[in-house]
Amino acid sequence: MPIEKIIVLEDDLIVRKNLEQQLRQRHYDVAAASTIAEAQEYLSRDTFDLMFVDVRLPDGEGTDLLRQLQSRPLKPLVVIITGFGSVESAVNCMRDGAFEYLIKPFSSDQIEVTLKKAAQYTQLVRVSRFLNHEEESSSNELLGRSSDMDSLRQLIRKVARTQATVLIQGESGTGKELVARAIFRESPRANSPFIKVNCAAIPEHLIESEFFGHEKGAFTGALNKREGRFELAHGGTILLDEVSEISPQLQAKLLRVLQERELERVGGNRTIKVDVRVIATTNRHLEQSVEKKEFRQDLFFRLNVVPVHVPPLREHKEDVATLAEQFLQRFARKHGVRVTGISPDCMAALLAHDWPGNVRELQNAIERAVILSGDGEDLGPDHLGFTSRGSTSSPAPIIGASPAATMTPPPASNGAILPLAEVEKQHILAALQQYAGNRTHAAKQLGISIRTLRNKLHEYGVASKGGEGDEE
Ligand SMILES: Nc1ncnc2c1ncn2[C@@H]1O[C@H](COP(=O)(O)OP(=O)(O)OP(=O)(O)O)[C@@H](O)[C@H]1O
Ligand SMILES: [Mg+2]
Repeated sequence: MPIEKIIVLEDDLIVRKNLEQQLRQRHYDVAAASTIAEAQEYLSRDTFDLMFVDVRLPDGEGTDLLRQLQSRPLKPLVVIITGFGSVESAVNCMRDGAFEYLIKPFSSDQIEVTLKKAAQYTQLVRVSRFLNHEEESSSNELLGRSSDMDSLRQLIRKVARTQATVLIQGESGTGKELVARAIFRESPRANSPFIKVNCAAIPEHLIESEFFGHEKGAFTGALNKREGRFELAHGGTILLDEVSEISPQLQAKLLRVLQERELERVGGNRTIKVDVRVIATTNRHLEQSVEKKEFRQDLFFRLNVVPVHVPPLREHKEDVATLAEQFLQRFARKHGVRVTGISPDCMAALLAHDWPGNVRELQNAIERAVILSGDGEDLGPDHLGFTSRGSTSSPAPIIGASPAATMTPPPASNGAILPLAEVEKQHILAALQQYAGNRTHAAKQLGISIRTLRNKLHEYGVASKGGEGDEE
């Protein structure tokens, strides 16, 4: 039963006894109080699902208690009962978080309806909490039982306890963001903000204002002042995703924030102090970028206080089976397909594959296979789109994709030679299709930065798929 325990806070003896009796007859567990102090005593000892609260009480106003209750994590639903009802006070009570507002005297039917509504509401909240939690906890968990994954989990636990800046390096799709979130969740800042900035996905001219905010009128279009992500993360953690992609100018400014923990908004001169824990990720070899003078060495040192390396999937292949099984269950549930398991042939194909796109590629392959399979069926090699025999270091093209490696330039429909820009466009789009829309991987294979790829796609009018540039 979603509603079990109820408090009645009412100083009028007759009304209180009457309500208590009606609720007991309906088999609720009822506590009765005639003052706010008495009710607070009950609330400090136990949790209640519902509360009837009178407004005028000997030691204060029931509405004050209503407001106080809102900051409690496990608060009861509050039904305000009053003999002096008005539209204005009803509106105020609802605004302050009341669930219902009843004017005395009220009928037994009104109580019945209120209880029913409260039960339905509580049930909905519980189901939604359960679903969110299940979804969140299952997709946030770092899976894998290999020794590599165990060491990674141990390292996460150690660094999470500290305030140290962490640099997470690893190939695309290895789980760097998952590691960053795990560090945050296990850190003393777990209940403070976690702000992510995808440095590769924000257009160059906006990135400084995204980082540090701007004052009103700082540039054309800055109609109001705006806080940057560092300010939003104050007291909490900021994730600088794909930090290798920021410009030299911004690298200098970021260095200052890391050193001094202070910044100025764009167009402003007030110095703002920020208390932020920084976690950065990169899928480029940052030491090499330093050698090539693309990334400042001093900034690299500031970021790399605790280095975390996330291994590519081909180096912990013993996890492929576990990951595949877990993803199978997740996607079967998500898509409502009753898949029975993974056939031995299919597992052989999964184990023989090289996984250049790492866990993300495996996850995508299983999701696609689940969608293509049927109820009561095992996943077979056909569902994967590749076989163990044919698996090399690149994934099979998606249905209809032209292999990006085709060297013959595509002719125009009239047989004439296409302009170079058009050939480039087709080549880029084919590469993107081959990597199932994963821009990081496509960019890597094309030998260009993800920022260049993003700019090109923008030029072609191809919308980015996932908000801030997430490739899933
Ligand atoms: N060990 C793991 N267990 C479960 N899921 C994982 C694991 N590693 C990665 N994933 C999943 O794979 C996908 C890619 O992971 P994530 O985004 O963390 O990769 P990344 O290293 O940040 O990649 P990129 O460099 O392309 O941004 C996510 O959906 C993530 O949940
Ligand atoms: Mg990432």
